[in-house]
Amino acid sequence: MATQQTPSGPRGLPLVGNTHQWARDPNGFRERCAAEYGPVTNFEMLGWDTYMVTDPDEIERILVSESERFPKHSDSNSELKEIVGDGLITSQGDLWERQREAIQPAFYMDHIREYADIMVSRSEEAAERWRAGEEIEVREEMTRLTLEILVDAMFGRDIDIEERGIYEAVEAFQKPMRPAYQPITFFAPDWTPLPFLRRANRAHEHLHEQIDDIVDQRRARRTALRSERAGDAREQAGRDADRDDLLSMLLDADTEMSDEQIRDEMMTFLFAGHETTALTLTFLWDLLSRNAGARERLHAELDATLDGRPTIEDVFELDYTKAVVKEAMRLYPPAHEIRREPVEDVEIAGYSVPEGSLLVLPTWVMHRDARFWAHPEQFRPERWLDGEGPETDRPDFAYFPFGGGPRHCIGHRFAMTEAQLVVATLASRWELERQYDDLGVSAAVTLQPDGDVTMVPRPR
Ligand code: HEM
Repeated sequence: MATQQTPSGPRGLPLVGNTHQWARDPNGFRERCAAEYGPVTNFEMLGWDTYMVTDPDEIERILVSESERFPKHSDSNSELKEIVGDGLITSQGDLWERQREAIQPAFYMDHIREYADIMVSRSEEAAERWRAGEEIEVREEMTRLTLEILVDAMFGRDIDIEERGIYEAVEAFQKPMRPAYQPITFFAPDWTPLPFLRRANRAHEHLHEQIDDIVDQRRARRTALRSERAGDAREQAGRDADRDDLLSMLLDADTEMSDEQIRDEMMTFLFAGHETTALTLTFLWDLLSRNAGARERLHAELDATLDGRPTIEDVFELDYTKAVVKEAMRLYPPAHEIRREPVEDVEIAGYSVPEGSLLVLPTWVMHRDARFWAHPEQFRPERWLDGEGPETDRPDFAYFPFGGGPRHCIGHRFAMTEAQLVVATLASRWELERQYDDLGVSAAVTLQPDGDVTMVPRPR
């Protein structure tokens, strides 16, 4: 058997290890490590013995073929559990398996078709809100839009996110995860009396109350409808009364879920199901504003394909629009790294990696790696089109914005459909003009723009 080597990495400081280098510039730090130390780099971050892996075949092994040996990183998962509870993104073992099986059908194509109508309606409302020449903050606009779409898909269209304080609460609850707050959030425990942490805790409670209230109302309505009808029609009556929203599907799932479980799943969707898409769209508008050629080609495709309001059928035709979305996620993957933990001592790319360490699979680095991408820093949507892309034989795990294997993103198809329909609806009517020069990005919990993304809509 070949001797396994201990991976090397950048020299750290006593006590803090490499935390200071990583915290100052996570993207640059990870890129430098990959360039200097090869497929596995060892460093110490926030007290964790960390191994960053940049060999695509090994990433596939970790996420897919040997996923059982590499569950989610337990400490990172526990932190997330404090926010979303034991929902799909954090649960493990039998609970996760049962819940994934129960929830998966909500993301089948027939349901995505239903959601498509919501996606277009909400985008049309956003297009109506904008005024020619009046500045908008694009990240805020995309956050509101994707939250409206998600809440409609989760609870049906009669939930008013303003009236119920859901928009404000989600914003407050995600604030500690924003770049400006991260240095403090990293080191301060949740109970520290800092105003933004107190507001986040209150927002958390508010969201729990709202979800409980919506679930109670829904259960009560279903019971009332059932008791109004008799006989065989009874069971069906309760179901027919609801639309095809996610909540109905959880209530109707074969495996009965407790109210607490439903609440954790709903919190998980609020956390995982809109911000990542909002960020993708924010980066996409920035990239389009810098690339006139891509913008013109996108507009030409929309003008030639759409016959009025975009539909789900158009999504299958809009190849360039899809390529724009994929390319935006290549350059700016909202999930900039995926974390795992080996359950035993393992060998990765010839290096020994100990049980219980933190494995980092950096989408940010892989998506910009010159081994797999021609001119990696350039925005080139055509690289995703048959016959136009210059790269061939790219390994599957050179690109994994939605992860891979059994824990891959359940909302993948929802997010891709949503991004395409939002772009199709908005770019049919508006062009967005950038009001700043450079867009700084920070790798916080998700990849985020550093400052305001201010743009001016111009009618097309
Ligand atoms: C552009 C948008 C999105 C991106 C980039 C994204 C990315 C990801 C990634 C990378 C994972 C895997 C994490 C891991 O393996 O540790 C994941 C999981 C997950 N995502 Fe997404 N996501 C997006 C949109 C959505 C949407 C729209 C929803 C729901 C409506 C959603 C719900 C989830 C859930 C519930 C999981 C956990 C799945 C499981 O462990 O079984 N995501 N997402």
